Amino acid sequence: MRALLTSKAARRALRPIADLIDQRIERHVRRALQNASAAGKTPAATITPDAALQQELKVLRNRQRPLELFFDGTGRGASRLPSGPHLNRTISELAQVTGDKDGAERNVAQAFRLLIAMEALGVGRIAGGTMNIVGKLSAVPLLKPPNDEIMEIGTLYGMFGASLIRMMERAGRDPRLTIVDPLAGTQLQPGTSIGDDASGTPVQGAAVRTNLALAGAAGAATRIQQGFSEDPEVRALVSDRSYGVIIVDGDHSAAGVAADLEWAEQIVAPGGIVVLDDFGHPKWPGIKEAFEKHMATDTRFTFLGQAAHSGYLRAAA
Ligand SMILES: C[S@@+](CC[C@H](N)C(=O)[O-])C[C@H]1O[C@@H](n2cnc3c(N)ncnc32)[C@H](O)[C@@H]1O
Repeated sequence: MRALLTSKAARRALRPIADLIDQRIERHVRRALQNASAAGKTPAATITPDAALQQELKVLRNRQRPLELFFDGTGRGASRLPSGPHLNRTISELAQVTGDKDGAERNVAQAFRLLIAMEALGVGRIAGGTMNIVGKLSAVPLLKPPNDEIMEIGTLYGMFGASLIRMMERAGRDPRLTIVDPLAGTQLQPGTSIGDDASGTPVQGAAVRTNLALAGAAGAATRIQQGFSEDPEVRALVSDRSYGVIIVDGDHSAAGVAADLEWAEQIVAPGGIVVLDDFGHPKWPGIKEAFEKHMATDTRFTFLGQAAHSGYLRAAA
């Protein structure tokens, strides 16, 4: 908590509150000096400015604590308090990838509010840093996918999928979501040991359905396929349509992403979008490695660019 409060982003975001504290302290000291002067006493005889300051600060800090709970990382692992420059960088990266600067600015604001609301109301959390999540939610509708069929490989709690439904509907679309995830009780990542989730919630179908219900009729109608995306039986069950959007966010190893890209080639609609999550993230080098190998093959995909650690591809029309 201490590190959170002293980070550059937190200091910048909390500046208005600090200014308010300064003003109140000034008022307090001025009032004490006026009272002392009116009573014909010297100020030093009536007040210890240090003690008054400490008292005022304590009161304000205590009042500030519940406000911080809306944004801090407790119960979800990551703080949701991006800095101004961080937000602006995401907007300009999205403008670059989507070619829509006004849309990027609007969607980032709306997606940020949505993220806070979904994590407040839902079960579990959305995985990833704030700008990464906001970036994906903003970019997908702006890239105008050729149809409304969406596939999410790796859903964790289904809360990102539910949020994407909301963002697509805001753009006047009629999203139909299919999810593939082992829903194994915990998050699975080959070669990585991931302990209990920061949210304290098991990764299971009930949580996913609760979160999808927050996204109305389209959320409730979501097709949830339990299993691994490389499993031929799982693939056969959900390869019955061409997807306008495919979110690759399951197994983050190079082999896992390679397998998902190879499958995406087969099921993506002409002009469809593939989102590679955690693209270029230092923790997950396998994603870029698999991407580079894949792009050297005879692929339908063109790389559109990257924003906030997600890579965007478009299939040939
Ligand atoms: C990073 S989380 C997904 C986060 C989610 N998309 C979000 O934005 O909140 C990765 C999920 O993929 C699942 N997973 C791991 N290997 C998978 C595979 N081979 N196929 C499908 N899902 C997989 C994990 O268990 C976990 O639920």
